[in-house]
Amino acid sequence: MSTDVAPAPTATSESEWWRTAVIYQIYPRSFADGDGDGIGDLVGIIDRLDSIAELGVDAIWLSPFYASPQRDGGYDVSDFTTVDPIFGTNVDARRLIGRAHELGLRVLVDVVPNHTSSEHRWFREALRAEPGSAARARYIFRDGAGEHGELPPNNWQSIFGGPAWTRIVEADGSPGQWYLHLFDSSQPDLEWGSEQVRAEFDEVLRFWLDLGVDGFRVDVAHGLVKADGLPDYMPAENAGSMGGDEWEPIPYFGQEGVHDIWRRWRRVLEEYGPDRILAAEAWIQPLGRMAQWVRPDEMHQAFNFAFLSADWDAASQRAVIAESLDAFGAVGAPSTWVLSNHDVVRHASRLALTAENPQGHGIGPDSPGLPIPELGLRRARAASLMMLALPGSAYLYQGEELGLPEHVFIEDEHRQDPTWFRTAGERYGRDGCRVPLPWTSDAPAYGFSEAGRSWLPQPEEWATLARDAQRGVPGSTLEMYRSALAARRTHGLAVAELAWVDELGGASVPEQVLAFDVAGVRVVVNLSEAAVPLSDLGVHTDQLLIASAPVVDALEPDCTVWLLR
Ligand code: NOJ
Repeated sequence: MSTDVAPAPTATSESEWWRTAVIYQIYPRSFADGDGDGIGDLVGIIDRLDSIAELGVDAIWLSPFYASPQRDGGYDVSDFTTVDPIFGTNVDARRLIGRAHELGLRVLVDVVPNHTSSEHRWFREALRAEPGSAARARYIFRDGAGEHGELPPNNWQSIFGGPAWTRIVEADGSPGQWYLHLFDSSQPDLEWGSEQVRAEFDEVLRFWLDLGVDGFRVDVAHGLVKADGLPDYMPAENAGSMGGDEWEPIPYFGQEGVHDIWRRWRRVLEEYGPDRILAAEAWIQPLGRMAQWVRPDEMHQAFNFAFLSADWDAASQRAVIAESLDAFGAVGAPSTWVLSNHDVVRHASRLALTAENPQGHGIGPDSPGLPIPELGLRRARAASLMMLALPGSAYLYQGEELGLPEHVFIEDEHRQDPTWFRTAGERYGRDGCRVPLPWTSDAPAYGFSEAGRSWLPQPEEWATLARDAQRGVPGSTLEMYRSALAARRTHGLAVAELAWVDELGGASVPEQVLAFDVAGVRVVVNLSEAAVPLSDLGVHTDQLLIASAPVVDALEPDCTVWLLR
């Protein structure tokens, strides 16, 4: 196995670092607690950042750490340019950016433009103001339907469950207008037709760019603009926030007008030079549509949720990889690759689920088809090793390098996701993928917090997955990631062309085996339930560079190998 670290490939210029970057997502609440309150914070991140640099990634993306009532894990922002006291101060943010840069890591921060918190000064002002006032015009207020305005203005549903409208009480105590919130009722949607809203966000971007960030992950980048007249719409059951496989216009997602906003943001970033980036969170299908978010004058990257959502079988994986390279390539953008984040069931569990599980619903003790942990981990390792060989840029979610599964057995009283509350427990939501990280196997709270506290309980099985239990241990998931990231650089995989291999060992590649070449590396993935002898693949163990599972004389089920060609 190779662990050499070579300089990043030079086929792209330094200002185009993002075309090949591996970007590590930090969810600040759950990364490391520096002040002992059981909630992760910026000082905790600064103290532990060398572990992330050591992994061999190029950049970090920080989920929101801004002032917020924390009704949606900080995606309910009450002040976009102030660090929330639970996470630290703006001085800490500046130190964190500086420390990351010292370690050679670029820094992306989250920006949440679709909505504010209901505690934002603008929304408070809107509540005090009259219907039709300038203060109301920054949000989407409407009179209700029905004889006395007692019904919501349309039938839209919140992504977190329940109606997407809440009625207010006017300042004089009378039942009043309704406001739109595609997410929690504490997250009123902004009116992006307002020039004041647009101008304010230009300044929010400049504020963080001035502080030295290298770019932004843009929340709900397919939302923001709603169809004129706000027509009724009801998504197909189980469609999650993604829609189906086909492009289907949704009155609140994927409206043409959002692209003008991204062009304007691109111009703001270019004031700071060519190397600051925008990454879209846009749950849009099919991939050809999503690629519109990364046209040359818009964003730089979009999270490839089609890849994340693809079934674990050879045909689906091959199709989504090929389509991704085509769709993003057609607009001159790199494909991204992602398997986990703070909104989805961790892939060490998701890939072994045996029942349908719509995006965002989460899993808990009563979910059907719960995963077998060993199978999940095996598949996750295979999927990650395959992903890290793919050309383009990849996103990792904190803890996946440890092989962490979803925490399924969180007691009801600890749950915090608004999805859980808005569906009266019918959907578990996303707490299970947000559990604080295990750093030290035998310390209280696994070293997440010196005070031994953790805002969500950590499962007992995590002792063996703690970072210190895996560091330097050959074959551990952590060492597999480190080796893969190092070899990805050494062999220039991220800038290479991918070529599918259809014949191995003089015969067609077996069904449920996927093989492709990138630069000097051949990647073979066994997605079948049977071991495939190496001799059938025309492969020798002395070609082995990295494997997701031990290889003796066969490729075991759910195993990926990188071979020297
Ligand atoms: C997407 C974020 O990733 C998610 O965590 C959040 O709940 C919604 N957007 C609303 O901001």
